[in-house]
Amino acid sequence: MRTHYCGSVNESHIGQEITLCGWVHRRRDHGGVIFLDMRDREGIAQVVFDPDTVESFAKAERVRSEYVLQIKGFVRARPDGTTNDDMATGKVEILGKDLTILNAAETPPFPLDGYVDVGEDTRLKYRFMDLRRPEMLNKLMFRSKVTSFIRNYMDQNGFMDVETPILTRATPEGARDYLVPSRTHAGSFFALPQSPQLFKQLLMVSGVDRYYQIAKCFRDEDLRADRQPEFTQVDVEMSYMDDEAIMNMMEGMVSSMFSQLLEQDLGAFPRMTYAEAMQRYGSDKPDLRIPLELVDVADLMDSVEFKVFAGPAKDPKGRVAALKVTGGAELSRKQIDEYTKFVGIYGAKGLAWIKVNELEKGAEGLQSPIVKFLGEEVALNIMSRLGAANGDIVFFGADQEKVVNEALGALRCKVGEDLNLYTCDWAPMWVVDFPMFEELDGGALTAIHHPFTAPSCSPEELKAAPEKALSRAYDMVLNGTELGGGSIRIHEADMQKAVFEILGIDEAEQQNKFGFLLDALKFGCPPHGGLAFGLDRLVMLMTGASTIREVIAFPKTQSASCALTHAPGDVDSKQLRELSIKVRKPESEKKEG
Ligand code: AMO
Ligand code: AMP
Repeated sequence: MRTHYCGSVNESHIGQEITLCGWVHRRRDHGGVIFLDMRDREGIAQVVFDPDTVESFAKAERVRSEYVLQIKGFVRARPDGTTNDDMATGKVEILGKDLTILNAAETPPFPLDGYVDVGEDTRLKYRFMDLRRPEMLNKLMFRSKVTSFIRNYMDQNGFMDVETPILTRATPEGARDYLVPSRTHAGSFFALPQSPQLFKQLLMVSGVDRYYQIAKCFRDEDLRADRQPEFTQVDVEMSYMDDEAIMNMMEGMVSSMFSQLLEQDLGAFPRMTYAEAMQRYGSDKPDLRIPLELVDVADLMDSVEFKVFAGPAKDPKGRVAALKVTGGAELSRKQIDEYTKFVGIYGAKGLAWIKVNELEKGAEGLQSPIVKFLGEEVALNIMSRLGAANGDIVFFGADQEKVVNEALGALRCKVGEDLNLYTCDWAPMWVVDFPMFEELDGGALTAIHHPFTAPSCSPEELKAAPEKALSRAYDMVLNGTELGGGSIRIHEADMQKAVFEILGIDEAEQQNKFGFLLDALKFGCPPHGGLAFGLDRLVMLMTGASTIREVIAFPKTQSASCALTHAPGDVDSKQLRELSIKVRKPESEKKEG
């Protein structure tokens, strides 16, 4: 039906007769001539109709925004002074001859020819229209380039694309499962995979050697800007490769992707231990574009009278840390109050601060609500440890270590963003040497990565001091976002059983839930490891989108539903009977109805 995409018409076509198909992006009536901006996937072209072509001109007068047209015409150079350098097709226009209206369109729910501040609800309800907007289509196109790049890279490095089941058993990745009732096994449920983790390990046992899959994963967890209940992983696993080799292989992929698709040089990715990341940045996914660091000051505070600080300073599980912001003395009281509220989200009970006005005057040159509690000597010692100078502000956090890390870690990013302290565009890194386990509130241990991650010690050492054990896990972090994570896996049944035991999974449960894995480990499982990237997060960062919803064609809303199809929806009672399911309405609905 067409010879060219609207967006691809250029000076090389001048003089040619072409046929375009697309939507009316904009229609302008310029007393005597009608301009139609015609839009398709590739861009926009300007078509001009003059009254000589009587029939087509009459149709052009009738068309409205988003009508679907086929247009035949001649490409010509735009007259001097009317070219548009902002448009790829801006040097040419099409003199329209024939116009066929392929379909009419009602007034769109929101205009597509410019920025409009419509709520996300409306955009998601009419997602098919929202995606027609060039900025949205461009993101989808870019995503397709990313997956195509990944497939090529994987092919070139000998990886096999293997599909794994969607109807499966629970894979523990730390979220709730989405369950699917089985009709043929009344009362039993499949779980949708939180990741293909166990299957990819089994594929290593099978001899696939190098596996990858662009895989849908499902996790019923609280949603945020970088989390969806249904998302996509670039899932990778390889045999006979150690941590270093795997990290290099994956770093190579991300580096060449940035260089090829964005012309950005990421340089070598620094590696940092989990312990160092927590100490310096209060986070296991530090944003290294921001040059601010947490500094421990507990040893200077343990004998001050101010209990808020002395308490955590003396507590082995406490932390007292300072965050110096160069030039931050200009922050107003209102801004500091806002930051105090902000750290409250992470459980901080306050946010002490010291502004350095005139250090040469000693403690008198410091402005702060806490110097009087700390004493002048302590305050000046702290300033000297931090290398504080006039014009700086220092924030303090004192609490349980976890609270201080989360609060000051988040504050560091917020201040960095607010004051635009970024020192570069891209800061990739690897975080390594994670602890194997973390303690839950009740004292039980849970796996930080997943229970199939290999520790860097023997089963005996692991059992003797599990809380001290480190794992062979690694996360790739970019600009403060965890892009991907993985590990060397346990490939011996004894070690796997030791980890299950520490996690409180007894023999019977091990057999019931993971018997197939333990079996596989017994039959000659090669040493192996891998990792998975969050594809949505990767594309979000590469396109500069603010949430992963912007780079997913049909995302779920904040409440994990689909605004377009209204899923999840009711099912009829026959279907439920077939599935042996009886629905108990939530108490709230019972009262209403
Ligand atoms: P993990 O749970 O760290 O590891 O997930 C890997 C990557 O997937 C992305 N991701 C998400 N993206 C969007 N929405 C979500 N709800 C979501 N959850 C995770 C993140 C994350 O880094 N099986 C292991 C990988 C392995 O060990 O090989 C796993 O799933 O970018
Ligand atoms: P208060 O004596 O509670 O008014 O606190 C004095 C200052 O210390 C205020 O600026 C508080 O915001 C701050 N503050 C209180 N608790 C903490 C805490 N746990 N960590 C850091 N600063 C705190």
